[in-house]
Amino acid sequence: MSFAAKLLKWYGENGRDLPWRNTQDPYIIWLSEVILQQTRVEQGMPYFYRFVEEFPIVTKFAEADEEKILRLWQGLGYYSRARNMHKAAKMVVAAFGGRFPTAFADVIRLPGVGEYTAAAIASFSSNEARAVVDGNVYRVLSRMFGISRPINSTQGKKLFSELANDLLDKQHPGLYNQAIMDFGAVQCKPKNPLCDQCIFRFECAAFREGLTEHLPVKMKG
Ligand code: ADE
Repeated sequence: MSFAAKLLKWYGENGRDLPWRNTQDPYIIWLSEVILQQTRVEQGMPYFYRFVEEFPIVTKFAEADEEKILRLWQGLGYYSRARNMHKAAKMVVAAFGGRFPTAFADVIRLPGVGEYTAAAIASFSSNEARAVVDGNVYRVLSRMFGISRPINSTQGKKLFSELANDLLDKQHPGLYNQAIMDFGAVQCKPKNPLCDQCIFRFECAAFREGLTEHLPVKMKG
């Protein structure tokens, strides 16, 4: 079985049921991904519900007073995220007639949306074949393939991004992206990963060589 096929099997049996996974609405996915950019899932969940309740569609978000958005955001920090969201919602109204885009090339132009968030929105909402590369993905791939190139170096970013896209299940990009992130969050954890019962324990380079605790490598500075 391929890496992707094993991962999808694992996800079917162990994946978390998170509220933003039961939709293909790019606006709802965007809300969840921006809230989760610097925030843990447990902390972000109540905010996600409040935003969906207050602003069920992007036009409502665009029309809202910025003070109201900032009030709802209170406690999450990085207030530029909330301000960028307001700008992005207005852009969706102005440039896309209020229909939130799903294509990577369109969403990446919205304020506050980087490579990761654009890949997440495009793959989850329309199955565009774009691999997400977040902290979970860096960890899983660096360990599995024994890659010690720093994840925050220019070469490292390129290497991991190319590998992630090679491994991506082109038939099920959205599901695959969710699966690898969950695998990193639940199984291949930063501290105390669950290697003894891992589906990849006979293939994982880091496990074989005792390097799990040392990967991924990050440059100081
Ligand atoms: N963190 C950021 N995006 C996430 C997602 N889609 N699922 C789980 N955790 C996440």
